[in-house]
Amino acid sequence: MSTALVITSSALGEASVSSQLVEETVARLRSHDPALRVIARDLGRNPVPHLDIDSAAALRGAEPSNYAQVNALSLSNDLIAELKTADTLVIGAPMYNFGMPSTLKAWFDHVLRAGITFSYSESGPEGLIKGKRAFVVESRGGLYSEGPAQPMDSQEPHLRNLLAFMGITDVTFLRAEKLAFGPEAREQAIEAVRQQIGKTVGEACRKAA
Ligand SMILES: Cc1cc2nc3c(=O)[nH]c(=O)nc-3n(C[C@H](O)[C@H](O)[C@H](O)COP(=O)(O)O)c2cc1C
Repeated sequence: MSTALVITSSALGEASVSSQLVEETVARLRSHDPALRVIARDLGRNPVPHLDIDSAAALRGAEPSNYAQVNALSLSNDLIAELKTADTLVIGAPMYNFGMPSTLKAWFDHVLRAGITFSYSESGPEGLIKGKRAFVVESRGGLYSEGPAQPMDSQEPHLRNLLAFMGITDVTFLRAEKLAFGPEAREQAIEAVRQQIGKTVGEACRKAA
């Protein structure tokens, strides 16, 4: 039985494009693996806290010295356990102000831990989360994969780096772009991602079988 960790991070609830496409990605994974187990983290509805003086200390190796530090460590350990259990990550990452939502960044802040999800050696940093594949649904009002706004994309390169830093390099980005270019462009963009989900999830599942 395989496990998918499904992380959504939209602030827009039912209106979210990324969450809808994440749902369709999971449905497609399930069509290839009916026994798929899903661990869901909806960071838009239930955000993990931003780092503060206690959590920053606890997550960087200090012995917890108060309840806030104990709780921060416990949450981080839970999130990392979910990550380690999963074979597949499905991440919904809207673009907000050129980057990922702060809720998703806060999740990364809780799972990137030296000695646990990455390490430093003489040959440089090494990701310790091996053998996972990831599908990242990106939703954007504008167009960033090509054209004049491309240099303003602080979303995809950041996500790619954070995942790679932990050792997750088998990553497929599914981009719903031009969502703010009118109803027709929006529908076309969503439909294009739907097609891409069918193709890439099918290919990945066949490769893994
Ligand atoms: C607070 C906020 C900031 C946004 N910033 C950007 C942006 O910098 N660039 C962009 O192309 N679209 C931007 N958008 C549009 C969203 O990327 C678009 O609405 C997308 O559908 C959001 O994903 P979601 O529907 O899953 O929440 C922004 C939307 C919101 C709500």
